[in-house]
Amino acid sequence: METSAPAKIILLGEHAVVYGCPAIAVPVSSLRVTARSAPNDPPCQGLRLVTAGMELAFSPDSPADDAVAFALRLFLEALGAPPPDVTITLQSDIPIAGGLGSGAAVTAALGRALAAVVNRPLLNDRLNELVYEVEKVYHGTPSGIDNTVIVYEQPVYFVRGAPIQALPIGAPFTLLIADTGQRALTRTAVADVRQLYDAAPASVQGHFDAIAALVRQARQCIERGDIATLGALMSANHKRLRQLTVSSPQLERLVQAAADAGALGAKLSGGGRGGNMIALVTPDTAGQVEQALLAAGAAAVYRTVVG
Ligand code: PMV
Repeated sequence: METSAPAKIILLGEHAVVYGCPAIAVPVSSLRVTARSAPNDPPCQGLRLVTAGMELAFSPDSPADDAVAFALRLFLEALGAPPPDVTITLQSDIPIAGGLGSGAAVTAALGRALAAVVNRPLLNDRLNELVYEVEKVYHGTPSGIDNTVIVYEQPVYFVRGAPIQALPIGAPFTLLIADTGQRALTRTAVADVRQLYDAAPASVQGHFDAIAALVRQARQCIERGDIATLGALMSANHKRLRQLTVSSPQLERLVQAAADAGALGAKLSGGGRGGNMIALVTPDTAGQVEQALLAAGAAAVYRTVVG
């Protein structure tokens, strides 16, 4: 039995979204976490997780700060089932700590796997709530955007605490996702922005308000298929994120390389300080921008079409 969940990227609005501003995120269905469930091979017993060659045996006494054990316990409670006698093998294409939502995708795939194994329904609305609880263990104060876009696997215009708003795509567009190769913890970047905010609330709120305005304009561009303007809005969003101190020299290098090679727009995506950046390209410029990103030191470049 196999279940899965996709990666995601934030198109615009990260960090400000934690403070109630809107953000836009899209799933990346070609990069996925897959969970395969199979009966245990004797003499193994109980609920076992195999991931990247590492085997974990689940016990109800596993420490509460272990996000995977916490997730398993939460799912079993929600499903009203005891730990099944099964091995779940997780396989992921998504780089970890890279702003692509690998943690939320692992949790979502795992929740779906457990529901299937114990043969109980777990609807997306409930799964989304549960994945959000686990995101708190990973991130401290997550906005909820990662779990939402990953569980529903559709583009979203997201406002913390508000009902989910689907985002119709007026015309498909192509993004390159380039990995800096630097791993960075979202919770550290989020905590640093919080410190900035506490030290100078008016000036940081000014950045958030400007980002919110960019996100609202971007929503309209996406709906009517105005990709050129969308690119300019993404680049403007990157400048604001740089001022919020969440860029890095490597992200700057990649963003500049993409712009120089003809991308319509480029920005860091997710928590920042490393991880991934995105570049909006046309079918004509995709190849040259991809080459430029690799030449500027990208560890990997993925191409995805939205819409
Ligand atoms: O680094 P990621 O992909 O998990 O994205 C985090 C997005 C933030 O806005 C920085 C935090 C959040 O919880 O929304």
